[in-house]
Amino acid sequence: MNIIEAIQERRSVRTYNGAPLSRTASSELFKAINNAYDPFEGDISIKLNDFDLSDGFRPSTYGVIKGAMTYFLVAGTDSRQSELSIGFVFEQIVLKAWQLGLGTCWIGGTFKGSDFDRLADTWTEGQQLRIVSPVGVPSGLSFREKIMRAAVGSDRRKPFEKLFFDTDFATPLSPNSRYGTALEMLRLAPSSTNSQPWRALVIGETVHFYYMPKSKFAIIDCGIGLCHFYETEKFYSHAGIFAADTTAPTPPDNMKYLISYRPE
Ligand SMILES: Cc1cc2nc3c(=O)[nH]c(=O)nc-3n(C[C@H](O)[C@H](O)[C@H](O)COP(=O)(O)O)c2cc1C
Repeated sequence: MNIIEAIQERRSVRTYNGAPLSRTASSELFKAINNAYDPFEGDISIKLNDFDLSDGFRPSTYGVIKGAMTYFLVAGTDSRQSELSIGFVFEQIVLKAWQLGLGTCWIGGTFKGSDFDRLADTWTEGQQLRIVSPVGVPSGLSFREKIMRAAVGSDRRKPFEKLFFDTDFATPLSPNSRYGTALEMLRLAPSSTNSQPWRALVIGETVHFYYMPKSKFAIIDCGIGLCHFYETEKFYSHAGIFAADTTAPTPPDNMKYLISYRPE
């Protein structure tokens, strides 16, 4: 399965078959953690942890996740740079897991105060646990999971023309334009409560990214979207860089500027 197919097919998995990861799968995931690319150079760490229940550990997500004993733990410092990195880097692992036939689910809210916090002293100074994600072989959708997906509209995404603009914020971008495919893949990215905070304005060869500051996960969400964008560019043999651009147009009141992308 190539990366485009992985982006298109991935969904959050909250019900697992209870089987441990194979040795090959674990080793591929560790490799993915070590080889992940981080253009934002944030201060983050990712761990892959088997929870041994005989140790008295209860990796509780308050009933959101069933049948998984292996979790990724993602920590970072409290900065915009680290939040972008958490999204960008961990989504590479999520997509790799999907290519290996494994499900994951970004969890930002429903683990606080549970046994995951017992590992808090293992992070480097200034880092805090921000995200956990189970990883394992998906089992069928549970009733509870169906309700949860329906509640946040997980199967829906905002239309392309409402998110991406051409030259000014009044002109929708054509999906057939130079960045159409990479932005379409960004559009499919997962986000907290499916809020899809990302917006983009294309001017010539440059893409200026903006976001709606609706939730405390908005920047992490944007990092995830930028990962899909970048992986698609790479798949089609385009190389580009992310950098702040002082010429980026001022956005409408409800949006904030994030970063820009241009060919190298
Ligand atoms: C940063 C972030 C935090 C999330 N936190 C939670 C969470 O606490 N609990 C949960 O069940 N799902 C959580 N999700 C999963 C989203 O609800 C899900 O990605 C979204 O509804 C889209 O569905 P999909 O991933 O199946 O495409 C989170 C996703 C992201 C990106």
